Amino acid sequence: MPLIRVVNLCKEFRVSKHQRGAWGAVKNLFTTQYRLVRAVDGVSFNIEAGELVGYLGPNGAGKSTTIKMLTGILVPTSGEVNIGGHIPWKDRVPYVKGIGVVFGQRTNLWWDLPVIESLDLLKHVYRISEDRYERNLAEFREMLGLDEFLHTPVRSLSLGQRMRADLAGALLHDPQIIFLDEPTIGLDVVAKERIRQFIKSINRERSVTVILTTHDLGDVEKLCARVMMIDRGKLLFDGAPGELVQRFGGERELVVDLAEDYANVEIDGARVASRDERQVTYRFVRGSISASDLIQRLSAQYRILDLSVQEPQIEDTVRRIYEQGLLRDEG
Ligand SMILES: Nc1ncnc2c1ncn2[C@@H]1O[C@H](COP(=O)(O)OP(=O)(O)OP(=O)(O)O)[C@@H](O)[C@H]1O
Ligand SMILES: [Mg+2]
Repeated sequence: MPLIRVVNLCKEFRVSKHQRGAWGAVKNLFTTQYRLVRAVDGVSFNIEAGELVGYLGPNGAGKSTTIKMLTGILVPTSGEVNIGGHIPWKDRVPYVKGIGVVFGQRTNLWWDLPVIESLDLLKHVYRISEDRYERNLAEFREMLGLDEFLHTPVRSLSLGQRMRADLAGALLHDPQIIFLDEPTIGLDVVAKERIRQFIKSINRERSVTVILTTHDLGDVEKLCARVMMIDRGKLLFDGAPGELVQRFGGERELVVDLAEDYANVEIDGARVASRDERQVTYRFVRGSISASDLIQRLSAQYRILDLSVQEPQIEDTVRRIYEQGLLRDEG
């Protein structure tokens, strides 16, 4: 039995439909029509203990809605969720003892209290023993650099500080699983790196299972061995980030510095994407020709000074998938 089992999960929202125009505005006063939005549409997956999974998808795809159902905040319209033997929205009290949740967009801490008092309160909420609390707090203070703002009210923290405080708060009770909804949103590069290090370390050292949503592909590159991608409520990809790039990354690039001015630099198997004096960028499709064959062909025809092969990056790959709806056609 996997730690997290999700079968055919669906969530529909009823949203009021506003009628347009002057007459519509009058009608809106007297009748409200509703339409259903399927935010999550038949999502199934398993996650094993100790995994670190990235949950990706464009705005409005259904990521936060999924996380809210997995954490018991929302009740699904249909489908099953079993996490460590619990049904999140039914067994809320025992269930939340074993999980931690951080929403990048808002804090779980008490707005007006200094950080340390917020953390102290959580000790009581979760009935954390004194020595476990002390041990965890000491470790998180060090790892997350909490000391510089431990006595500052949460409302006065910078975004990066608040995120660090929230992470500490979500992990004080030694949860087995942590759900992070955009934990690096709005952070500068240094703060992002610090949060990533922390997430990696709690996953490795404490074997905490991590599910994180993000729009920052750096998070995925640095952290996730597995990504799930959702679009319009449907789970469209579940696998290694490398596989995503291989399948949807598009063309590879070969940048060549030529030794002479050639009038024509065309070559079979690749197309000239751009040319800047003696530097030519070729694009070619993985599978149709290998980089070494292409290089051989080129060097048979031209004198080459230098060259480099560029693989498609995950950032570009995901952009292509979102823009072109590449997975939709498959799914
Ligand atoms: N409480 C709600 N009432 C009505 N519709 C909702 C509600 N919550 C979410 N939705 C709708 O469900 C869909 C999925 O929203 P969700 O917040 O899960 O997306 P997301 O993948 O987290 O997007 P983002 O990347 O922008 O955070 C959207 O169309 C959204 O408008
Ligand atoms: Mg969201």
